[in-house]
Amino acid sequence: MPKKINKLAVLTSGGDSPGMNAAIRSVVRTCAYHNIKCIGVYQGYEGLITGDFKELDARSVRGIINKGGTMLKSARSKEFRTKEGRQKAYQSLMDAEVDGLVVIGGDGSFTGALIFNQEFGFPVMGIPGTIDNDIFGTSHTLGFDTALNTVVDAIDKIRDTASSHNRLFFIEVMGRDVGHIALNVGIAGGAEEILIPEEDLGLDRLVDSLNKSRKSGKTSSIVVVAEGDKIGKNIFELKDYVDENMEGYDVRVSVLGHMQRGGAPSCFDRVLASRMGVKAVEAILEGQSNYMVGLQNGKMELTPLDNAIKGKTKINLELLRVSDIMST
Ligand code: F6P
Repeated sequence: MPKKINKLAVLTSGGDSPGMNAAIRSVVRTCAYHNIKCIGVYQGYEGLITGDFKELDARSVRGIINKGGTMLKSARSKEFRTKEGRQKAYQSLMDAEVDGLVVIGGDGSFTGALIFNQEFGFPVMGIPGTIDNDIFGTSHTLGFDTALNTVVDAIDKIRDTASSHNRLFFIEVMGRDVGHIALNVGIAGGAEEILIPEEDLGLDRLVDSLNKSRKSGKTSSIVVVAEGDKIGKNIFELKDYVDENMEGYDVRVSVLGHMQRGGAPSCFDRVLASRMGVKAVEAILEGQSNYMVGLQNGKMELTPLDNAIKGKTKINLELLRVSDIMST
């Protein structure tokens, strides 16, 4: 007979992403719906260790569904990587009579949750929150859709000035070591070239392609570069290389950076967050643990945390082909 759950805790960990607040709201309100208490843990795993807790009810999470960031803050905790730190965290949860933990974060956060469960048998459930969309077991991580829309808007603005000054822009986007953001925004932003870690086409091909675009009469170009791209030059070195090896291009660089992590979550992310919060809480109430909730073929499914952590997402080959055709 699974242990009766009377109180759950929720925390956010790792890089923040739009939709985390909507997920917190959903976890808290699903607890209220099932007449169980909910504790918000501030500062991620650090707050678990220090007992930085606050009881949250349905009204505590009003007015946040449309807010980027996370009301619970997020932090990276070195101490939680130690057994002593996790022991303190476990004691904090026991002192607060908490029966289960929902972790909203990325694969690093899930690794900590899994180890915590293995050491203390404490029920944990993961909600994938990161703009990178690099977590196995879900077609969409929380914040990915919002980040795509944010970046496409930025590319549109850069294209205005690129075309006014006949310039080539290298635009660096986030994604850590995957190219999902770059590939999607490259297509949507009409980029002439998209450089992603999953497909290293080399510098010569890039220069040839840009020369072809130039000769075909294009007076300005956009090249989207995933920050994890492996062409062998960083984005500023790429600019210098093109400056030195190509005629007729005035080259500029724009590194979008952390603005990609902010902003009001899109409708898609708000709905996704609401669905994930319900699924996560009800899975724990059913006695489940060590799973990540995810969107698979439009449905909320559970993936063992170990698989979510170890699994790798693959670049969408159909999208890759579309991007090649669109740059004709
Ligand atoms: O994982 C989300 C992310 O934004 C990555 O895309 C990026 O590489 C990283 O976080 C940046 O980390 P930090 O916020 O610690 O600089």
